[in-house]
Amino acid sequence: MRRHSAVSSSCSPYGPILGVETSCDETAAAVVGPDRKVWANIVFSQHDLHNRYGGVVPELASRRHIERIETTVSEALRAAQLRWSDLKAVAVTQGPGLAGALLVGVSYAKAAAFALKLPFVGVSHLEAHIASAWIEDREFPIPCVVLVVSGGHTHLYLVRSDGFYSLLGQTLDDAAGEAFDKAAQMLGLGYPGGPAIDRLARTGDPGAVRFPRAHLKKGSLDFSFSGLKTALLYHLRDRNGAVRDVQKADLAASFQEAIVDVLVIKAFEAVRRHRVPALAVVGGVSANSRLRARLAGQAAEAGIRLGLPSLAYCTDNAAMVAAAGLNALERGRRSTWELESDAELSLAAIAVDSSPDAERP
Ligand code: KG4
Ligand code: ZN
Repeated sequence: MRRHSAVSSSCSPYGPILGVETSCDETAAAVVGPDRKVWANIVFSQHDLHNRYGGVVPELASRRHIERIETTVSEALRAAQLRWSDLKAVAVTQGPGLAGALLVGVSYAKAAAFALKLPFVGVSHLEAHIASAWIEDREFPIPCVVLVVSGGHTHLYLVRSDGFYSLLGQTLDDAAGEAFDKAAQMLGLGYPGGPAIDRLARTGDPGAVRFPRAHLKKGSLDFSFSGLKTALLYHLRDRNGAVRDVQKADLAASFQEAIVDVLVIKAFEAVRRHRVPALAVVGGVSANSRLRARLAGQAAEAGIRLGLPSLAYCTDNAAMVAAAGLNALERGRRSTWELESDAELSLAAIAVDSSPDAERP
């Protein structure tokens, strides 16, 4: 259990802060001002580069980050109408993610902070996604439940009123986004799979095929999507791959519905069990239109406040990194020049709190 640092309402002495994100296949830079508003949010997606391989090729991603990082940061500064000397701090995604890709962002951000003699902080990609829930709604309530659904994570957290957060459940195998990506590959829809399935599913029947929903043992808030993926594989194999386009749309809609069902049920079960008034859903998969609609319907029915970032803050971006960095610095967290990128970084390892009650359960 770690101290949550996503929320603070007053003006920040660490803004404008530059955020840098290179953990996967987006080269991103952003500026968050002392007013905690996003002054610039620039994302260079590498999807075109990786699409032809059906997924992210780590070596190509690192090289493209090296080529893009300078122009991305310059563009963010230009969009924010700032000079380098106007910055008050620098934040970067330290991990988790692709080792080589992370290294580019961390080296660049560290060099910039060192040259400018600015406070520097490495943040977890997960903590950044969580912070995105407060970017557009600084009054979003705490305590609340946050569901992080991305290509690498399906994690449910309780953010408690004493400021700590605790992990309530996580995927035991594939992440939700990974399941979307693999299904899209099987259906020949290219990479990234989530948006492709989302689009195609709009013309399909979500009830066409009843794919399995893994609820695991009674009351569990953990997730599992590997059985669902296998069910789609067997479904296609039984038809020798001869699936017409209209059937593809039905399969996309049915597959999507199975994932959305489980996410919605477990997220609201967590809300009910912990008696909190609010639920935030963040990360790339929270851009899914069906998930957003189902969450909105259920939240209205249950009288729960729903936090869903705008699409620009769902998928990887650096505004969430800058926002998380601002909060971390305000809590007294600061990285040294020895900071290294960490592909396996766990949230618990980074959100270290120097206050005496840091380890309080
Ligand atoms: O947060 P994110 O941009 O990167 C990671 O941290 O992984 O999430 C990327 C994931 C990918 O798996 C992508 O397919 C999925 O989010 N995604 C979606 C949608 N947009 C992106 N999944 C379902 N529906 C979408 N509209
Ligand atoms: Zn992400």
